[in-house]
Amino acid sequence: MSYAIAYSSRTGNTAQLAQAVREALSEEECRYFGEPHAEALVADTIYVGFWTDKGTCDEQTAHFLKGLTNQRIFLFGTAGFGGAPAYFDQILGRVKENLGPNVQVVGTYMCQGKMPQVVRDRYEGMEDSPRRTAMLENFDRALCHPDQGDLDRLKEQITH
Ligand SMILES: Cc1cc2nc3c(=O)[nH]c(=O)nc-3n(C[C@H](O)[C@H](O)[C@H](O)COP(=O)(O)O)c2cc1C
Repeated sequence: MSYAIAYSSRTGNTAQLAQAVREALSEEECRYFGEPHAEALVADTIYVGFWTDKGTCDEQTAHFLKGLTNQRIFLFGTAGFGGAPAYFDQILGRVKENLGPNVQVVGTYMCQGKMPQVVRDRYEGMEDSPRRTAMLENFDRALCHPDQGDLDRLKEQITH
């Protein structure tokens, strides 16, 4: 079956996932690889990659998802906050709100993605509190993600 990989990535984390998807699938069946674009619509399955912006997918991905009609899609994404699967489910729920009723979601995958240093600087400037400590700890945990394990799990989910 043919496929396309359409992804948005501002700092490269989701791009790493997109590359892993590509490696997991046959190059021959690849119809499109790149930023969200109408060209991706020719494929049987579209792997749609997003980065998390204010609790949902980035604008570019939201716009692309809203333009889908009856495609099969696999959603993958990265978020700065990880650790709690319920958080990822919440994000995915919001991302799916962009989809029409005839779009079929055949799979989903999310993992943590590192954030820029300016974010840590901002946390450091906050008054000391348990929340600040938790955010700093989360920031540091995110630094090594996506790691090889994250990429392997994504590949495994795609190929079963
Ligand atoms: C403007 C902005 C808003 C963000 N909002 C969130 C958010 O609401 N929740 C979250 O978990 N991560 C948030 N992040 C972190 C990114 O989603 C995360 O670092 C992601 O892996 C970036 O992916 P990319 O490298 O593919 O751009 C935000 C990052 C930026 C720059």
